[in-house]
Amino acid sequence: MSDMQTELTFASLSDIETELLTVAAVDAQTKKGPDAKPQPVLLTTHEAVKAAAAAVLDSGEFKAGANETLLLHAPVELKAKRLLIVGLGRQDKATVPSVRSAAGTAVRFTKPRGIRELVMAVPEAEGLVATACARAAVEGAFVGDFDPDTYRSDRKDQSVQGVTVAVPAGADRAAVETAFAEGVAIGESQNFARSLVNEPGNKLTPTVLGQRAVAMASEVGLKCDVYSTEKLHELKMGAFWSVSQGSEEPPALIVMRYEPEGVTEGPVLGLVGKGITFDTGGISIKPSDKMDKMKYDMAGGAAMIGAMRAIALLKPRVRVIGIVCAAENMPDGKAQKPGDVQTAMSGKTIEVINTDAEGRLVLADGLAYARQLGATHLIDAATLTGACVVALGMVNAGAFSNNEETYEKFEAALETSGERFWRLPLAEEYADMIRSEIGDIKNTGGRWGGAITAAEFLHHFAEDTPWIHLDIAGLAWVEEARPYIAKGPSGIGVRSILEWVRRY
Ligand code: BES
Ligand code: MN
Ligand code: ZN
Repeated sequence: MSDMQTELTFASLSDIETELLTVAAVDAQTKKGPDAKPQPVLLTTHEAVKAAAAAVLDSGEFKAGANETLLLHAPVELKAKRLLIVGLGRQDKATVPSVRSAAGTAVRFTKPRGIRELVMAVPEAEGLVATACARAAVEGAFVGDFDPDTYRSDRKDQSVQGVTVAVPAGADRAAVETAFAEGVAIGESQNFARSLVNEPGNKLTPTVLGQRAVAMASEVGLKCDVYSTEKLHELKMGAFWSVSQGSEEPPALIVMRYEPEGVTEGPVLGLVGKGITFDTGGISIKPSDKMDKMKYDMAGGAAMIGAMRAIALLKPRVRVIGIVCAAENMPDGKAQKPGDVQTAMSGKTIEVINTDAEGRLVLADGLAYARQLGATHLIDAATLTGACVVALGMVNAGAFSNNEETYEKFEAALETSGERFWRLPLAEEYADMIRSEIGDIKNTGGRWGGAITAAEFLHHFAEDTPWIHLDIAGLAWVEEARPYIAKGPSGIGVRSILEWVRRY
């Protein structure tokens, strides 16, 4: 993992000695139509910084578009060697998530230039509270620092070694310090999840994923047990086992526990992640085109491991159990076949129409186990369906829930996390689509509404326990690099799941 050092300062911007100082700017134009002209405005009250940027802002070269950058060398009257202006876009749309992205953009701008250290000034503007911005800036810096080139032999470590966030002296220092420390814990945990997702299937087997979870747990003080084949049989996890039976690699049932001292009452939150370390489709094998991408089919599990790390560090007053069902979905002589009937841990029987709909099989038993361990509220995350990507593209991930109260907490969590999820419906009619003739349910519901029938499948195992299902298939992997994030694993889910937990 990156060893980026982070720091907070309340010093005056002109006094800060640094290789690079970044300040944010917005486009303040209000007109629309042919007369509209960008009006870049720096979000700082610092006169020397404003003076240093005045000429170039007047020139019209820089429009303060979202993640647009402009670099000045030797800014007069500043001790900083360079001044980087980063756009947040239109003023009325500049929000805390824009600040997070801008911070990532600043770091990704810095990395290839051999600059190892920078200072980011949090924007000073109405509606952009310093505490939230300090947290978002440091989160964004971690997100921007991550690159997926782990196995390149010509890899140059261009990681930024030091990021300092500068906050105006007048801010509520204690609150800013807390928010900043949270941002560090969250940013690191998100990158930890990304590093797991980035690993190829041969390096990160279910067993190795279990070992990574154990190592993380001992670092941050979580309990963590990893079970395998025997335990699956003992718990009668017929659905989970049916996926792993076709692989030489044993499954891993990862159970992480966060038990804050003195908390013996109240809710127990169950976090359940899909941990398919490689999804070939099994006997219903996938086409070879882009099959390599299926190494990221454990992104839901990684999100839960990352969220548990952040939970252990931020210490909310609520008990949490994290469960990851890890297996490899392979075709071999022992693999399950279309038409096979499996008995899940809950006792329900499942007709396996398509062995490629394996995520819901492992999650069925993960959800049942979380309930058996006492979870009163459930959230699961999974790269579950291509259908969800068809529905929402790569802009929003899918969310489902059987309970308004718990979903409201998730919606509130999204305000802080800045991650984009869009709620899709559940309904009896969709559940009807997965009724089986030979058993209770079948694992596919046909072509239409595929993300929803998958969610209804899980609903059978969450039953009436308040539950949220996150289908992150379209967002777990960034297909095209953006100024603030590399192409590769995104770490989606970590921040929102953590924030949901903190609302109990
Ligand atoms: N892991 C896939 C879903 C997926 C697709 C994730 C694309 C990321 C990108 C899942 O196990 C799967 O294969 N789902 C099938 C279900 C179908 C057989 C009902 C799908 O979506 O095609
Ligand atoms: Mn599959
Ligand atoms: Zn899958």
